Amino acid sequence: MASKHLATIGILSIGDMGAGIARLLHAHNYKVITNVTGRSASTQSRASAASITLLPTDEDLVAQADYILSIVPPRDAIATATRIASAFKPQERQAAEPLYFLDLNAISPATARTIGALFKDHDDTKLRYVDGGIIGGPPKPPPASASSDANGTTPWTRPSIVLSGPHPLSAAPTSGSHLFSLLNARDVGPDIGSASGLKCCFASLTKGFTALAIQSYSTAARLGVLDELRGHLAGFAPKLKEQGEKGVVGMAPKAYRWVDEMREIGRTFREDGGWAEEWGDGIYDSIAGTYRFVADGTVLGEETIEKRKRGTLEDVVEALKEGLEETDKL
Ligand SMILES: *[C@@H]1O[C@H](CO)[C@@H](O)[C@H](O)[C@H]1NC(C)=O
Ligand SMILES: *[C@@H]1O[C@H](CO)[C@@H](O)[C@H](O)[C@H]1NC(C)=O
Repeated sequence: MASKHLATIGILSIGDMGAGIARLLHAHNYKVITNVTGRSASTQSRASAASITLLPTDEDLVAQADYILSIVPPRDAIATATRIASAFKPQERQAAEPLYFLDLNAISPATARTIGALFKDHDDTKLRYVDGGIIGGPPKPPPASASSDANGTTPWTRPSIVLSGPHPLSAAPTSGSHLFSLLNARDVGPDIGSASGLKCCFASLTKGFTALAIQSYSTAARLGVLDELRGHLAGFAPKLKEQGEKGVVGMAPKAYRWVDEMREIGRTFREDGGWAEEWGDGIYDSIAGTYRFVADGTVLGEETIEKRKRGTLEDVVEALKEGLEETDKL
């Protein structure tokens, strides 16, 4: 392409992670575009602040992009892929190279395969689907004080992006290998579903443990033994204490998204892991219920991405306790 950019990347949608990845790409000479038509003013200003070009429709997005990254709440993954697959018109594309659609959402391998099927009717020299997942938090620029390395660049803090499927990003024609290393990507195999499955197995441990800590700490607080619990953890299992408290303090603004992610993990263990009902396949459906309670049954759920107050462990446990006391009265 006769563009001064390395490639044009469409991002749907612009939450914390989407905006962080947009900033990383923009800082490394990629053009980032999105469609925020109909979204709130705060989403639109978040997109502008991240130097993203706003386009009016999905059709414009698929006509101009070399890559589209889908980074949405898990329950919107299939709808987003469906929109893109149906907006795609090969004859309207500006580039001769295929459009790559990367689904980076927290979904089960089975959901990834459902999305793969949406792209089956398209000629894969024109439109290609890559399964993926994001492990870790949004990219962050290096602190202003950081010293640059021998190449004059300073490293960003980046999540790991795991990818799989028959069309490796590293081999994509439009700056694919550059994009692959900039995104800190890793190819985990040729099958659709491996990358999503890996993400689910990882998140099952981190977010699953946080749910156990939510139940343990709030119950200890109601019993009046929270400080004793923390003291014993500090003495006998300090790493669990650190992990659990960090998880409990940070989870509140994300709990509503994690409800569906936990269900996708349950589906992964059931359908790809083979864990049947009598052997505990419902654990993650129960954990989905724990995050549903945080989001809907406590004041913590009222913290939105716009208005975030994370508070201390004591604040979060107090809010959980109040929510549980309310439900006792019902
Ligand atoms: C994107 O474009 C379509 C039309 O192609 C429009 O219906 C939709 O609401 C737009 N906005 C978002 C946020 O997807
Ligand atoms: C810097 O350049 C060297 C040699 O060209 C290369 O091996 C290294 O990966 C580069 N580092 C970064 C952060 O780009």
